[in-house]
Amino acid sequence: KPITVIGVPLDLGAGRRGVDMGPSAIRYANLHEKLTKMGFDVEDIGNLSVPTLETYKVIDPNLKYLDEIVAVNEKLAETVSDTVEKGRFPLVLGGDHSIAIGTIAGVAKHHRKLGVIWFDAHGDLNTHETTPSGNIHGMSLAASLGYGHEALVHCGGYAPKVSPENVVIIGARELDPGERKLIKELGIRVFTMHDIDRIGMARVMEEALKVVTDGTDGVHLSLDLDGLDPKDCPGVGTPVVGGITYRESHLAMEMLAEANVLTSAEFVEVNPILDNGNKTAKVAVALVGSAFGEIVL
Ligand code: ARG
Ligand code: MN
Ligand code: MN
Ligand code: MN
Repeated sequence: KPITVIGVPLDLGAGRRGVDMGPSAIRYANLHEKLTKMGFDVEDIGNLSVPTLETYKVIDPNLKYLDEIVAVNEKLAETVSDTVEKGRFPLVLGGDHSIAIGTIAGVAKHHRKLGVIWFDAHGDLNTHETTPSGNIHGMSLAASLGYGHEALVHCGGYAPKVSPENVVIIGARELDPGERKLIKELGIRVFTMHDIDRIGMARVMEEALKVVTDGTDGVHLSLDLDGLDPKDCPGVGTPVVGGITYRESHLAMEMLAEANVLTSAEFVEVNPILDNGNKTAKVAVALVGSAFGEIVL
């Protein structure tokens, strides 16, 4: 399937500056070349225009830069929806994880029973009522499930985008009290680092694939690079020790490619300012390769 790359240099949803350079860092790590060499028809439509942090003020400390983030996500939802309509695969480059609200709003319009793989150290299941930071990148999965501020929840003009039985979180190791509560209430499947240690990534992915394919009509991969261990991916704004290894993450992507179920993907939270030789963006591009079926032999 032909691929459309969409950059979203948004950092207003994160507590630290620098993820606005994520799309650029990922392109610099030769994303286009990799996909082209693999035989894909790739078009890169560039970056969405995104407001600069210094231009705006925080109005509600529990929903920092809400209006600006909503505007970017509405535009992203439209762009992603147009991409799907053209029969192309949307590959979105972040940017902070708040952009998942727009990406998912764009794809779920066409895949009303969307499965979502949330690969992350975090749950991003806070609302303005439970957030410890006010950063909207910690609220994007909740919003996609229909929880949180109306403007986030109704991105794209409808809600909810996904239902809890079709969502799986992989790599979690830092969940806030409000997030734990929502996970229990909604019965969301979460494979924590403990589960990965115990049963291994291969079995985790077998189970995860069941969750996102059973009764669904599409699968979205939302991959936050902080899901990986900071040793492999130091260039993220909210690193958490004890993460998924380089190989475990590749195995996960390879199993996704084998299952051949992905209909959209996003790679977020790459922060080249905090990185070491663009290591994290290079890992992101390698993971894209595996997710799209690159194999050694
Ligand atoms: N749970 C914390 C918060 O709500 C951290 C969220 C980190 N999210 C991310 N996409 N990196 O602020
Ligand atoms: Mn995260
Ligand atoms: Mn509503
Ligand atoms: Mn995240």
